[in-house]
Amino acid sequence: MEYRFDFLVIGSGIAGLSFALKAASLGDVAIVTKKDKLETSTNYAQGGIASAIGNDDSFELHIQDTLTSGDGLCDPEVVEMVVRSAPERIRELVEWGVEFNRRGSGPFDFDLGREGGHSRNRIIHAHDMTGQAIERALIRAAEEHPRIYIFENHFALDLIVEYDGIRIGDRSIKRRKRGWGAYVLNVSSGQVDLFLSHVTLLCTGGAGKVYLYTSNPDVATGDGLAMAYRAGAVLANLEFVQFHPTCLYHPQAKNFLISEALRGEGGRLIDKHGRPFMHKYHPLGDLAFRDIVARAIDTEMKKSGDDCVFLDITHRGKDFLVKRFPNIYEKCLSLGIDISKTPIPVVPAAHYMCGGIKTDMRGRSSIDQVYAIGECACTGLHGANRLASNSLLEAVVFSHQAYLDVKGHFDEWFKRPFPSLSSQDCPYNALENNQQSEMVFIAHNWDVIRKIMWNYVGIVRRDSRLKLAQDHIAQIRQEIREHLPHIPLNTDAMELRNLALVAELIVSCAVMRKESRGLHYNVDHPNKDDLRWRRDTLIWRELE
Ligand code: SIN
Repeated sequence: MEYRFDFLVIGSGIAGLSFALKAASLGDVAIVTKKDKLETSTNYAQGGIASAIGNDDSFELHIQDTLTSGDGLCDPEVVEMVVRSAPERIRELVEWGVEFNRRGSGPFDFDLGREGGHSRNRIIHAHDMTGQAIERALIRAAEEHPRIYIFENHFALDLIVEYDGIRIGDRSIKRRKRGWGAYVLNVSSGQVDLFLSHVTLLCTGGAGKVYLYTSNPDVATGDGLAMAYRAGAVLANLEFVQFHPTCLYHPQAKNFLISEALRGEGGRLIDKHGRPFMHKYHPLGDLAFRDIVARAIDTEMKKSGDDCVFLDITHRGKDFLVKRFPNIYEKCLSLGIDISKTPIPVVPAAHYMCGGIKTDMRGRSSIDQVYAIGECACTGLHGANRLASNSLLEAVVFSHQAYLDVKGHFDEWFKRPFPSLSSQDCPYNALENNQQSEMVFIAHNWDVIRKIMWNYVGIVRRDSRLKLAQDHIAQIRQEIREHLPHIPLNTDAMELRNLALVAELIVSCAVMRKESRGLHYNVDHPNKDDLRWRRDTLIWRELE
């Protein structure tokens, strides 16, 4: 099947939906998403959106907090643009129907929470289910729009890119040129469809599933990163994986976050004897930057040999907790933990990818007419460590930037005829009919990768462990190359391929950076080296 759209948006989280709602004023938009449309990282975001709108706050303070958290690697121009755009973008979310908690009826009378690294209360939220409130409102608005078409169970496999070649000596080198959509697996029929588009948006979220323990939903397998890399786009800073300090530690809890907003409301981290410990690590204590809190917990657990630490918010009492954190309260209670009476067992887990597909201020990747927005992008906002609740903000700001950019090129780009591609051009035809099932290979390698990444490329790194990870993952990648033609073309197989590639890229970036900065802490290079390393680690595939 061949589809033709003005815009192809890959991913149905806040980045893709907010872009689609704007771009639909210019043309027809297809949104493809590999599972159910609500199954996105956005939907699980608890904390909120940061914006300096409080009476005691200022753009300058929000900018400063973001820069401090980013540990020397943020792009100050991007930080300033994002922070100053926040109120306008939040106003738009409200217009699309998002209901945030309020203190009054004025347009910006929101209830403002606090999270780690913020010097003021500035987190706009919808109880502890901010992402869900956003996701549902934007999906509703998109479904009502006559020019937006949502394709669920459609898994984008690879970008369609037109290259121009140059010759250097006897070698022909492909130079990247222009994106024309994507090859997309229709998961229900098993067929690969062609989605041709003038503009393609990668809004595929993060890659938390590359780690054994993560706060991310199962869909976070780094598909956009892998697709962009295979197409020859530049990626940056993949070593900066943010570990959220507090995920619920319980055998029946999978990926459940205990929002930093609990610490913003007075929650304290304690050990199993009830002793607080964060004051030993940073003057901001329990509300220190996320990298510091996660490392502190890791240190405490390694010292004591305990499986977890605890977050105590019992002093706030049941009435407050039920009202402010209904989701967390209910979830914990369903597992036998009454958070108004007992401290919550917590551990750090992979949460957010600060690096990604390198973009400019308008969200453009290094492939023309291909944009990357949201967690899969590296815009320069987060630097070496993202400030809490800056990510939903980044997504709405950059979807607006991309929309403005596309609008400016509309006459030029949208008149160009689509390329005519034959079925021979589709790289997946050869795989399509081969049904010799080897599914055990997928499950096994998926587990191995996640364990390697957790044990060797985690919160605290060292050269020898990174080297081991590199060797193991190279071997798995080789096995995948050999086995893939014998495996049915399905979501699990394609996710494994992406996950393995992203793991390899994370390790490569971590090996490159010979210093410790932000989220990348390597005991063999414990200091920051501004002279050599106050810069992005860049990685791309040479195309020949
Ligand atoms: C949280 O609620 O703690 C997560 C917020 C974020 O990651 O920005």
